Amino acid sequence: MVSLVLNLILSILLMGENMVIKLPAPAKDSSFSVERAINERMSIRSYKDTPLTLKEVSQLLWASQGIVASGRRASPSAGATYPLEIFIAAGKVEGLKPGLYRYRNKEHSLELIKEGDLRKSLSNAALGQEMIFKAPATIVVAAVFGRTRARYGARAERYVHMEAGHVGENIMLQATALGLGTVPVGAFNDGEVKRLLGITEDPLYLFPVGWK
Ligand SMILES: Cc1cc2nc3c(=O)[nH]c(=O)nc-3n(C[C@H](O)[C@H](O)[C@H](O)COP(=O)(O)O)c2cc1C
Repeated sequence: MVSLVLNLILSILLMGENMVIKLPAPAKDSSFSVERAINERMSIRSYKDTPLTLKEVSQLLWASQGIVASGRRASPSAGATYPLEIFIAAGKVEGLKPGLYRYRNKEHSLELIKEGDLRKSLSNAALGQEMIFKAPATIVVAAVFGRTRARYGARAERYVHMEAGHVGENIMLQATALGLGTVPVGAFNDGEVKRLLGITEDPLYLFPVGWK
């Protein structure tokens, strides 16, 4: 009886809390030089039907906005206002059920915020671009403009877009160094992507990722 009551209390406490998946620790060094990554990066729009692992997802997300040696983030931010939020729409990732996850950089973990394979609807919202449907996962860079606007007013619009570019380049160079293919996708219906992901942040940039 006591354990029944305790279980009930526990499940009430956990109600409304999303599942959190701890990511494996990212590598902070490798023998693949930054020069080689710059030299070999190119847009890749077709991928093998091979799933990604949590290790690769961990590395890509760390490169986007993970915590680095300075204690700050992998990408710079105007006035350290950090307007960007990173999500991953996973379809075929070992160890992840299909769904949309938020990257929690401080704990280097993923929070499941929407269950289900969103790749087809995401592809449709991106003017039918097939690679988003075919890629095992797509990284979504989204923004809360208000965080930067509170400090910089109208200038924030420019800064936030610059920051999305920094994050995107890190993702692309890291993907190249891992032997993965990606392409920056800016052509999509903003409102439609926001609605289907069910997020309050404004989506700015998509990066489908898969094996070349
Ligand atoms: C802001 C931006 C938006 C882009 N949007 C798309 C897109 O929606 N779909 C696509 O296939 N490629 C997109 N691209 C990729 C470009 O087509 C590609 O970078 C360009 O052709 C140069 O090729 P490279 O990336 O191999 O150097 C985009 C690139 C940038 C920088």
